[in-house]
Amino acid sequence: MASSLTAAYPWTTAPLISCAPMRLIANASLAATVSLADGLGFIGAGSDISTLASELSNARDILSKANLPSPTGVLPIGVGFLLWGAPLKDTLAILSKPENIPAAVWLFAPRQPEDLKDWAEGIRSATSNKSKIWIQVTSVQEALAATKLAQPDVLVIQGTDAGGHGAAQGAGIISLVPEAIDAITDLCKTSSTPLPHFVATGGISDGRGVAAAIVLGAQGICLGTRYLAATEATIAPGYRDAVLRASDGGVSTIRSSVYDQLRGTTEWPAGYGGRGVLNASFRDHEAGVKFEDNKKLYEEAVESGDKGWEGERARLTTYAGTAIGLVTKIESAENITREVRDAANKLLLPGLRASL
Ligand SMILES: Cc1cc2nc3c(=O)[nH]c(=O)nc-3n(C[C@H](O)[C@H](O)[C@H](O)COP(=O)(O)O)c2cc1C
Repeated sequence: MASSLTAAYPWTTAPLISCAPMRLIANASLAATVSLADGLGFIGAGSDISTLASELSNARDILSKANLPSPTGVLPIGVGFLLWGAPLKDTLAILSKPENIPAAVWLFAPRQPEDLKDWAEGIRSATSNKSKIWIQVTSVQEALAATKLAQPDVLVIQGTDAGGHGAAQGAGIISLVPEAIDAITDLCKTSSTPLPHFVATGGISDGRGVAAAIVLGAQGICLGTRYLAATEATIAPGYRDAVLRASDGGVSTIRSSVYDQLRGTTEWPAGYGGRGVLNASFRDHEAGVKFEDNKKLYEEAVESGDKGWEGERARLTTYAGTAIGLVTKIESAENITREVRDAANKLLLPGLRASL
């Protein structure tokens, strides 16, 4: 790690705030707005790259209105992929076009750890080393494997409070981030592996969480759940309102595979679960309601549209993290990015801030 994290993304301000590549939700508008607010926005391509080229084109249009400093000519945004489903060759064909090269490519959830190596090498070669490789990991063991196999530029350390998919069994960032950083620092000292930068994610929704994660050793932060209430998020109003209504995320959300089963998104590798608001689908599953009956009720809720997120019997999936109670209003992604960063900077000692 030769220089600060923000130096690699010269339009950003410390501490670097990024928005998670939330599939279907983090599109060009959200990602570009976060970058325009001096952060790093990620488009969530996920496992399906059918709209990737058009989202990159939309992002280019939005970003062309500003002149963000990008010495290597990369698009000042990132793109995130779910490796268990995204096709490597076709992805490289899109990302290798000079106008499409993103500043960062985010890799998550490989079917096997070795896939990280193929993706990292493929992207580095297709983008002439211009795109930085970010890898999201959920444990110390995964952090070590990812670093050995793919030498990421950035390790995104995801704690179990995170919304959406993560390890079915995991720790919160308060223990995971320092232990993972120590393990990676040791590894890099005793081998020729370059030390990555560290980004913390999972359960951070305001400046206090950002500052705490920086004190734990992270140089940057990624927020997912908080951006669900951004005006630029592609999200159904019923979903967004359910996020705004929920509080006390430790008891109002749960990590489970039930939501994937009901939605039919069952291609996730073993060991992952999605954290979302605990709803009637989950309660019925726990109460022993037969899967077919639960699924029928779920499909009826899908038919009912936004109503499917309302009331005690709400059944539609509301992926969100334990910091859901800190998400209380709809606002622009620009406000969110600037507000959490400014609030964190007021809490951070100047010496620590200068190292970011
Ligand atoms: C609705 C939602 C969708 C997500 N989709 C993805 C995804 O497609 N790819 C990915 O790598 N992570 C995804 N995540 C997880 C994020 O990368 C990140 O770990 C998480 O949002 C951080 O925790 P927070 O939600 O508490 O901020 C998603 C998270 C949420 C809330």
